[in-house]
Amino acid sequence: MTVTTSERPIEELSRAKRLKALTSATHEGVDRSIMSAASFADLEKYGRFLAVQYLFHRDVAALYEDARLQALFPDLSVRRRLALVAADLADLGFDAPEGSDPVFTADAIDLPMALGWLYVAEGSNMGAALLRKEAAKLGLSDTHGARHLAPAAEGPAPHWRTFTASLDALELTPQEEERAGQGALAAFARVQSLVDARSA
Ligand code: HEM
Repeated sequence: MTVTTSERPIEELSRAKRLKALTSATHEGVDRSIMSAASFADLEKYGRFLAVQYLFHRDVAALYEDARLQALFPDLSVRRRLALVAADLADLGFDAPEGSDPVFTADAIDLPMALGWLYVAEGSNMGAALLRKEAAKLGLSDTHGARHLAPAAEGPAPHWRTFTASLDALELTPQEEERAGQGALAAFARVQSLVDARSA
C-alpha cells in the first residue's frame, strides 16, 4: 500500500512530512493514551505525564549537546527541554523518576537515527500548545509546573519551521533515510511504552 498525505505519494513529500506520514498512527496512539490516562485531571496524574516527559527528554538530551548535530541545527542547544521538565517536577514537589539508561549517550549516537528522534522531540512542541491549555486548568503556567510546555518566543509554528527547514535540507542516502524513519518510529514507541508503564 502506498502511504499518502494530501493525496501525494509519500516519496514526493519533504522529509518532515514523510516522517509525519510514517508516524501518524503511532502519534495518534500516544495522543490517545495520554488523554485517556486523564493526564490533566489532577496534579497526581499530571505528575505521571511529567515523568514520561522527563524520561523521554533524558533519552534525547545527548543529541542537543552533539557537535555534529549542532552544526546541522544551529539553534539546537537552546531547544533542549530536559531542564524545564526537571524544574516542573521540582515546582510540584515530585522527585525525578528513575528509569533505564538513556537511549543516547554522548559516545553512542547514530546520526540518521538521531534525526528521527529529534523530529519527534521537536515536533512534540506542536502538541504542547494544546496541552498547555489543559495544564492551565490545573493552575500551572509557563513559570510554574508547565515550563516545558511554554511556546518558543517566536511562536510554535515558526520555531517548528526553522527545525524542519534544516531537517529537510540534509542530504541522506536511502539507507540513512530509512534509519531516520526507524528512529522516529522508535522514539514514538519509547514514549508509548513510558506512558503504558504509568497508566496501569
Ligand atoms: C510526548 C508525547 C507526544 C509526542 C512525542 C508528540 C509528537 C508530535 C510530533 C512529532 C508532531 C509533529 C507532527 C508534524 O507536523 O510533523 C506533533 C504534532 C502535534 N501533536 Fe503531538 N506529540 C505528543 C503528544 C500529543 C498529545 C497528548 C496531543 C493532544 C492530544 C498532541 C497533539 C498534537 C497536535 C495537535 C499536533 C499538531 C499537528 C499538526 O499541526 O498537524 N500531541 N506531535
